[in-house]
Amino acid sequence: MADKKKIILDVDPGHDDAVAILLAAKNEKLDLKGITVVAGNQTLEKTLQNTLNVCSFAGLNDIPIFAGMAKPLVREQVIADDIHGDSGLDGPQFPKSTLKEEDKHAVDFIIEECLAAEDGITLIPTGPLTNIAMALIREPKIKENIDEIVLMGGSYTLGNTTPAAEFNIYVDGEAAKVVFESGLDITMVGLDLTHQAKAYPEIVERIAEIDNDVSNLVVELLKFFGYTYNRVFDFDAPPLHDVCAVAGVIDKDVFTSRKMRVDIETDSELNYGRTVCDFYGVVDKEANAEVALDLNKELFWDLLIEALKKY
Ligand code: RIB
Ligand code: CA
Repeated sequence: MADKKKIILDVDPGHDDAVAILLAAKNEKLDLKGITVVAGNQTLEKTLQNTLNVCSFAGLNDIPIFAGMAKPLVREQVIADDIHGDSGLDGPQFPKSTLKEEDKHAVDFIIEECLAAEDGITLIPTGPLTNIAMALIREPKIKENIDEIVLMGGSYTLGNTTPAAEFNIYVDGEAAKVVFESGLDITMVGLDLTHQAKAYPEIVERIAEIDNDVSNLVVELLKFFGYTYNRVFDFDAPPLHDVCAVAGVIDKDVFTSRKMRVDIETDSELNYGRTVCDFYGVVDKEANAEVALDLNKELFWDLLIEALKKY
């Protein structure tokens, strides 16, 4: 797999995380070394079970799955059951998973895999950054082999969990601070980008036309996700946030970006978890992240449809 890009996908399924897994597992440019799971949309017990269920249903039996951090580094736990339901993946009924998680902890896997990746590795976190931060804290040497971290999280405008903060950052602001201050190449795929990836009926129709078990599962996931996004945010279609981060690693043309300074607010009650983005370069601080701006919708949806056809 010399020309493939080694990746670790760190998830908190979550409807959009589930679709991100399905894309990452089938794209020929990616070498998915493992899936690490973190508490986020639901408790770790549920995000882990959801990961096992999705991978088992999709026949992804050769990708190791690791349970990670069950709580944020410092603050109290927050979940998103209003969006993803009590199971964290409400909507479809999954047959009992045939898969089990590895005995190794996710943070140990991330550390070992990064230290071994002498030709580089990309981390794609699509949930709170607790696992990634713990790996960086415990073994800073992993930075030498990490090419980049492409994360779904943050926003340079409005939040979705508070007026200031996006969910993944809000759940663990201290972990996000560790990642954004790591000195690594960071690409922040925030709400300003991911809200352009709404699965409108014509997209759902394209997915339904594939008509295999996995594409039909995605249609069911989007139905529930669309219902909750309409009820909570009055959205006319559900945004596939996490899929954008994976697609951006597959093809850099999926979105444009601008390098800027991003700091994480962790002291303010009102603004905790805000990604404070110096969009106009008005402060004299070193830019530390590429922030995703505009989505190439046609390329994005083609990548997902192409992957779903391979199941
Ligand atoms: O704010 C959107 C993010 O929060 C997505 O990753 C979604 O899965 C939830 O984790
Ligand atoms: Ca997620």
